[in-house]
This record gives sequence, C-alpha cells and structure tokens, in this order.
Amino acid sequence: MTQPLRIAIAGLGTVGGGIVKMVQKHGHLLEKRAGRPVVITAISARSRNKDRGVDLSAYAWEDDPVALARRDDVDLVIEVMGGEDGPAKACVETALQNGKHVVTANKAMLAMHGQAMAEMAENAGVALRYEAAVAGGIPIVKALTEGLAGNGILRIMGVMNGTCNYILTEMENTGAAYGDVLKDAQELGYAEADPTVDVGGIDAAHKLALLSSVAFGTKVDFASVQIEGIERVTLDDIKNARDMGYSIKLLGVARMNPDGLEQRMQPCLVPSNSPLGQLSGVSNMVVVDGDFIGQTVYQGPGAGEGPTASAIMADVMDIARGLIIPVFGQPAAGLVKSDASGTGSDAAYYLRFSLQDQAGVLATLASILGNYGVSINRMHQYGHDGKTAPLVIVTHTTSRAALDNALAKISALAASLAAPVALRIETI
Ligand SMILES: NC(=O)c1ccc[n+]([C@@H]2O[C@H](COP(=O)([O-])OP(=O)(O)OC[C@H]3O[C@@H](n4cnc5c(N)ncnc54)[C@H](OP(=O)(O)O)[C@@H]3O)[C@@H](O)[C@H]2O)c1
Repeated sequence: MTQPLRIAIAGLGTVGGGIVKMVQKHGHLLEKRAGRPVVITAISARSRNKDRGVDLSAYAWEDDPVALARRDDVDLVIEVMGGEDGPAKACVETALQNGKHVVTANKAMLAMHGQAMAEMAENAGVALRYEAAVAGGIPIVKALTEGLAGNGILRIMGVMNGTCNYILTEMENTGAAYGDVLKDAQELGYAEADPTVDVGGIDAAHKLALLSSVAFGTKVDFASVQIEGIERVTLDDIKNARDMGYSIKLLGVARMNPDGLEQRMQPCLVPSNSPLGQLSGVSNMVVVDGDFIGQTVYQGPGAGEGPTASAIMADVMDIARGLIIPVFGQPAAGLVKSDASGTGSDAAYYLRFSLQDQAGVLATLASILGNYGVSINRMHQYGHDGKTAPLVIVTHTTSRAALDNALAKISALAASLAAPVALRIETI
C-alpha cells in the first residue's frame, strides 16, 4: 500500500496545532513506519487569519468543518474542535457517512454519542479511534483493545484528570486551601477559567465511561457514572488521610458486579506508597486488573499539545497501516446495555465526625456503627477545644448501604455538629 493517507484536521488549537507540527517534523519517519506517506491535505478552524505558529500554506482551507469532512481528497478526518454536539458531531457524522476514517480527542462527544457513532463507523467499514480522548498521551485504549484482549477485565481504576490531581497534590504538599490552589492552577494554565467540568469530575467521568465500554463490552453509559468532584475535599481530610498512610485522589473506578456495572468518579483514599498514591502534578495513571495478567499500571501526561498529538498520531498510524479494529474492542452491535450496579462493591471507609465534646458520645457513635455491622479498624481523635471533638475513623470493609444507614442515625444525634464525611478507601 503506497498510496498516501490523506488527512484533514478540523480544529487548529492546542491539539490540532500539535498534530500539524508532528506531521511536519516527522513526515519521513511516519512514511517509513507506515509504509506509505501520511499527508495533511486540508484544514479548518474558526479564524483563518490567526497566527498559529506553523506554516499552513500548503493545505486547503475550509471555513466549514462539515465541508472539510466531505472533501474528495481526504481519507481520514481528525476532529479536534471539541464540544459534545454542534460542529464536532456534524463533522464526525459527515465523515463517517462519506466513508472516511475518523480520529478524535473528543471525550464529551463520544461519552454521549459513542454507541451511535461506533455503529455508523462499523457499518461504513471505517475506523473511529479516540486514544487521545482518554488519559491524554497514555496508550490505554490500545492496551485494553489489543494488549489485554485475551483477558477478562476485573477492574479499571485511575486518575484521569490532571487538573484535579495537580490541585490535590498541591494541597497535600503545601498545605494551601482548595480555592488558593485552584487560582494558581488557573494562572499556570492547568485549569480553565470555568473549572467546573474538571473539578466537578465530569471530564474524568467521560473518560471512565469510554474505558468501561471497552473493558466490559457494554454500551457507553455516561449517565450511570456516579460523579462527585473534588470541591468538597478539605485540607483537614487531606492531612488526616496522610497521617493514616493515605492520599486523596479523584479516582475513577469501573467493575462489573453481579447486579450490574459499577462506575464511580469520586475522591477516594489510596495508600500513599502505592503508584496511585505517589502520582503527583498533572500526570494521569490507569490501573487495570486482568484475570490472567494480574495488575498493569499505565502512567504518563494526561493532556497538552505534545502528548495529545502523540496519541492522535498513534491512531492515524494504525489506520495508515490498514489496522481497523472495532471502536470499543468488539463489534458495536454486540455491546450490551448493562444495568447500573445498585449496591456497588464493598470497601473500607475514612469517616470524619464533628462531635460535641461530652462523655458518652463516642460510645454512642461506636454502638450505632456496630449495630449496622460497620466495624472500626482505626480511630483517631484530633485535638479538641473543649466544645468539639473531631474524630476520624477508618472502618473495616463494609457495604455502602449499611454505612449510609449508620451515618444517617449519627447525623441525627444532638451531639453531631456537622454532617459526617465519608470517603471510600480503594484497595490496590
Ligand atoms: N488540550 C488538551 O490537552 C486536550 C487533551 C485531550 C483531549 N483534548 C480534546 O481535544 C479537543 C480540542 O482541544 P484543544 O485544547 O485543542 O481546544 P482549542 O485549543 O480550544 O482548539 C479548538 C479549535 O477548534 C476550532 N473550532 C472551534 N469551533 C469551530 C468551528 N465551529 N468550526 C471550525 N473550527 C472550530 C478553533 O478555531 P479557532 O482557533 O479559529 O478559534 C480551534 O482551532 C477537545 O475535544 C478536547 O477535549 C484536549
């Protein structure tokens, strides 16, 4: 196959600019590795005259990304505009309908429309690839669909949002409060002016929903991901967790339980000395448990021009070599709609209570926990001021339902001064 692979790029921002740079720098290398030239023929963005720091004069320009997706001189469309609907969706659908391969970094779009788009691609006999959409430069989709294809997947777990990991590790390392670290992250360009999608866990949940589909053969089901962001993680909890040998991470976890698919994106405690506990700054990490291989760990940069362009070009190179695998690792028509797990899996929990400092309160609390079958592993009472007694408990493994019932009872006590905090401890 010596015909060139002709690509079009819709979107010339951080990611699109990186792709242009990579193709311009490594054109010769790409050709040698793919066995055919990989060339850009056409591009699109909103503003034609913006200086993007790269020479775009050799490429045809389209104002409309949908027109770009229809061009006869294009075999593959790279969509890097963003947005779950609108021009991105229209561009991708048009490309697929016109028999063109698509590579995208757009997790929000695929989390919503992944199943329909996968069916569209597979019916048209073209590839739809999205390595860059999950954990940036880390080749985790490839690891799951290819490297681990012989394994039953038992659990996927990971830190998939660099902004959140930066904020939590800065809080842990410097003792600065959430709001101050978020402001720094915005100044450093690690967080958007409107950080909600990142700190609220939504961006990472989009990624988890895509990985769940590949791992468990289910239709992408973003709506069933239980999402809790990092906004309510306090410095006290970070310090208490560290005292007990844990770090707090915004952790995505997916596993198949007897009653359905569990998908959670929430702050969890992990052992400080584990690979996840050691992960600092804007890095991402995904941990996969397979039934034959055991545990594998993937770490790397989760965002940025270079890492994201790297992931996009990995997909492009597979297509250039003629490798077309099903979008979610098996034919989309065979993906099943799983129920969401109602009970979730059992775990140990970190609990923090603010209690009135009076005789008998501790005994009452312990007996309520005991009545619901929640047993105490470790307990630490922090310096009380004569009025309040902050109490931290690490439980043994328990069901969330039992814990919630116990916490509701404890909250209702007159001696309970604030809602208890409960954070799951994930085993590694
Ligand atoms: N940045 C990262 O590190 C990263 C990592 C992983 C995944 N992603 C994903 O990659 C995608 C792109 O991200 P990015 O950071 O590169 O975004 P960006 O810097 O904001 O760039 C977006 C590009 O899309 C163009 N665009 C927007 N609307 C358009 C329209 N209606 N018609 C034509 N062009 C349009 C913009 O044109 P103008 O330049 O003319 O305004 C811009 O060039 C998103 O889906 C994002 O979630 C990004």
